Amino acid sequence: MSSPLRVKGFQIFAEYLDRAACDALVHDLRDVARVAPFRVPVTPSGKVMSVRMTSAGRVGWITDQKGYRYESVQPSGAPWPPVPVRLLELWRDVTGLTRDPDCCLVNYYGEGAKMGLHQDKDEGDFDWPVVSVSLGDEALFRMGNPTRGGSTDSVWLKSGDVVVMGGAARLAYHGIDRVRFGSSNLLKDGGRINVTLRVVAG
Ligand code: SIN
Ligand code: FE2
Repeated sequence: MSSPLRVKGFQIFAEYLDRAACDALVHDLRDVARVAPFRVPVTPSGKVMSVRMTSAGRVGWITDQKGYRYESVQPSGAPWPPVPVRLLELWRDVTGLTRDPDCCLVNYYGEGAKMGLHQDKDEGDFDWPVVSVSLGDEALFRMGNPTRGGSTDSVWLKSGDVVVMGGAARLAYHGIDRVRFGSSNLLKDGGRINVTLRVVAG
């Protein structure tokens, strides 16, 4: 594992996964989506998000009129599928932790999808890192600070890149400004998948 690029406390492991490993993860995530179909997330204020979202793990992340939260079942009442073993191995490898993540949040970015600057703060214990895996089209990832405002830095995340948000970056604002739709042929219909692995307290 080569040493990561560090930007504002974010650790960026470029090309962490090769093409075969990306293909294998896409295969795993198709299995996840068969059990837990992608949904259109709506924010508590009623705004429809541009990504499509699902989860795997003991708990899944949900947003609706009732708020942002983790739930132990899907909106249908069915349990979430397990986190793919290959992603657990990636988590252990990149973090060195023996505590596995509880949630694998899966976001699909189709043409024009983006994600505004936000903090990941529903997990209850911020000592654990969040690990992000990018698959498919390139995306412009913006990194800010633990409080709103101030300077930001951006990098294009490519398929196979892994980002660790820990320490000072754990509660830093981050988001996706845009995706270069069609820049990768990993997903047959184009677009980007981002997976985030999270430890959720309780
Ligand atoms: C997220 O912050 O949940 C997603 C980040 C990304 O898509 O790279
Ligand atoms: Fe996030």
